[in-house]
Amino acid sequence: MNSTRVKLAISTASSSSLISPIRKVVKIRGLPLVNRQAIAMASSLSPVSKFDPKNMEFRYLGPTGLKVSVFSLGGWMTYGKHVTGNPVTECLKAAWDHGINYFDTAESYFKGESEIAMGQALKELDWPREEYVISTKIFFGTGRQEPNCRGLSKKHIVEGLKQSLKRLQLDYVDIVFAHRMDPNVPMREIVEGFTQVIRNLNFAYYWGTSEWTAAQIQEATAIAEKYNLIAPVVEQPQYNMFARERFENEYAPLYSSFSYGTTIWSPLNYGILTGKYNDGIPEDSRFAKEGEFFKDTISRLRSPEGQEKIEKVRKLTAIAERLGTTMSALALAWCAKNKNVTTVILGATKVEQLVENCKALEVIPKLTDEVMNEIEGVLQNKPEVKQHIWTQR
Ligand SMILES: NC(=O)c1ccc[n+]([C@@H]2O[C@H](COP(=O)([O-])OP(=O)(O)OC[C@H]3O[C@@H](n4cnc5c(N)ncnc54)[C@H](OP(=O)(O)O)[C@@H]3O)[C@@H](O)[C@H]2O)c1
Repeated sequence: MNSTRVKLAISTASSSSLISPIRKVVKIRGLPLVNRQAIAMASSLSPVSKFDPKNMEFRYLGPTGLKVSVFSLGGWMTYGKHVTGNPVTECLKAAWDHGINYFDTAESYFKGESEIAMGQALKELDWPREEYVISTKIFFGTGRQEPNCRGLSKKHIVEGLKQSLKRLQLDYVDIVFAHRMDPNVPMREIVEGFTQVIRNLNFAYYWGTSEWTAAQIQEATAIAEKYNLIAPVVEQPQYNMFARERFENEYAPLYSSFSYGTTIWSPLNYGILTGKYNDGIPEDSRFAKEGEFFKDTISRLRSPEGQEKIEKVRKLTAIAERLGTTMSALALAWCAKNKNVTTVILGATKVEQLVENCKALEVIPKLTDEVMNEIEGVLQNKPEVKQHIWTQR
């Protein structure tokens, strides 16, 4: 504790009626001090920051005042099954040590096991709650068969999130997402459900959508405005070098009309953009471990269309090498370069992957117009951004 911190601690302590009478006066670095008990209490009132942002870039979450690191870390297909125990804690810590302050999970990831694993890691790491941001997602449930244990009814939004918080061992999440749209529930009930968990129950500060259509997001926003409810502020869509259409074209009016935020998923296209699948499926990889789930993706990858993708990865790898970086870092930096991306959610089964992927931060400034054009030349998939009628308002 340095002397400024000690001074602060004393003034907070002596102004509190909760402090017990001073029993013993000691001197630390020449300052008269109250007893150890008072110091401990005072320092817990003014905790020392544990988070070092390093050279991380922070972006506002859409139209809100919440700042999230441009790279974040998620727990899908990793934590709670293929990665458990100490390695989960190590991955979260490695992310934090690189300036990442935002973590993402969902009720459905390994039927709730991802939330349990990440919650346990957060408990062990003991970071001040105000220093990190966490989101979960509600919709798919945890595999229970009861009719009300999934979907976006008001009941499942409230009770699903309550269960998520229990698994995470947290009082609240910062952001709760509707993991998909539920076409069987009236939009007004969905918006009321999310308003209730934020406004009445303090289970979250903000809500967002995931893989909703732009029209559905527009409808939810209009209903929120009309009935004095809380509107969604952020979408969680897939976005990477091979999946661009919805993000760059369909969602364009959301950015201009609502400053809608985005927390993008599978930035490495499940790992394909690392180059690890160029010559087949490595044993210790996601496609090997989750072969059944990725059955269609794997067979597409073996088709002529998939081989064309691999060929593009090889050409992009040459660009990455010329820039002095790796294919993964180039692909991640390319996503972050887009200002409509609020945060790129990383996935990592190993600390080394995270360390490599965080190098993407240094690659963003290297993506000059010239390099971006060269990348476009390889990808050949730039969506045509159409004029959307409702941006004309
Ligand atoms: N809202 C949604 O519907 C939705 C859907 C999917 C994901 N998400 C979110 O987005 C997050 C990220 O998605 P994702 O995990 O699919 O991202 P991704 O970046 O496309 O894939 C990550 C996987 O690629 C491999 N990998 C990553 N870095 C590597 C490296 N440097 N070298 C070699 N292999 C590497 C690892 O798998 P292996 O080591 O196992 O091969 C890792 O788990 C998820 O955790 C989740 O939070 C949301």
